[in-house]
Amino acid sequence: MLRTIVVAGTILLCIGAVMAQQEIAVQQDNLMRGQAKSLYDVMLKMVKGDIPYNQAAVDNAIKQLEESVPKIATVFATNPKQDVVNATYGSSQKIWQNKADFDSKIPPVVKAIADVKGKIKDKAGLRVAYNSINDRCNDCHETYRVKLK
Ligand code: HEC
Repeated sequence: MLRTIVVAGTILLCIGAVMAQQEIAVQQDNLMRGQAKSLYDVMLKMVKGDIPYNQAAVDNAIKQLEESVPKIATVFATNPKQDVVNATYGSSQKIWQNKADFDSKIPPVVKAIADVKGKIKDKAGLRVAYNSINDRCNDCHETYRVKLK
């Protein structure tokens, strides 16, 4: 009887831990998706002409990125040791073997955002800003993001 309770308890604890880890992975993914919204769904689409240039939307996208990017270090503090179910991209385990190097990829993105903030006035300027920010995002993705499918 006691053994059954211990076994059942252990199983429940394991399920709890797995759920918590999935939650962490989802949080990390949501942070990235939020940044992708500003950079790709707003800025890139305007650069490509898929949607019209809109100054307020550009300014808001930059503001969102400015708030979100510095959160990467904290949101990725814990290794969830699993990928988001069905995700296209996952985290490399290298992040937590080399967290200081991972974190060092964040300030260049922050700087790229600060450098263009308030200076984008038209589509040409937006294209330059988009490229300068996107290159810095990719500097991290190259090493620490894994394509799952
Ligand atoms: C310090 C490292 C780092 C920086 C900087 C970074 N990312 Fe990521 N990004 C990751 C990692 C790790 C993943 C894979 C794990 C995940 O999806 O949460 C990822 C995943 C993504 C994904 C895929 C999400 C999905 O699952 O579909 C997008 C889109 C993305 N990042 C956009 C951005 C944008 C836009 C920026 C720049 C504004 C950026 N990232 C900056 C580390 C970074």
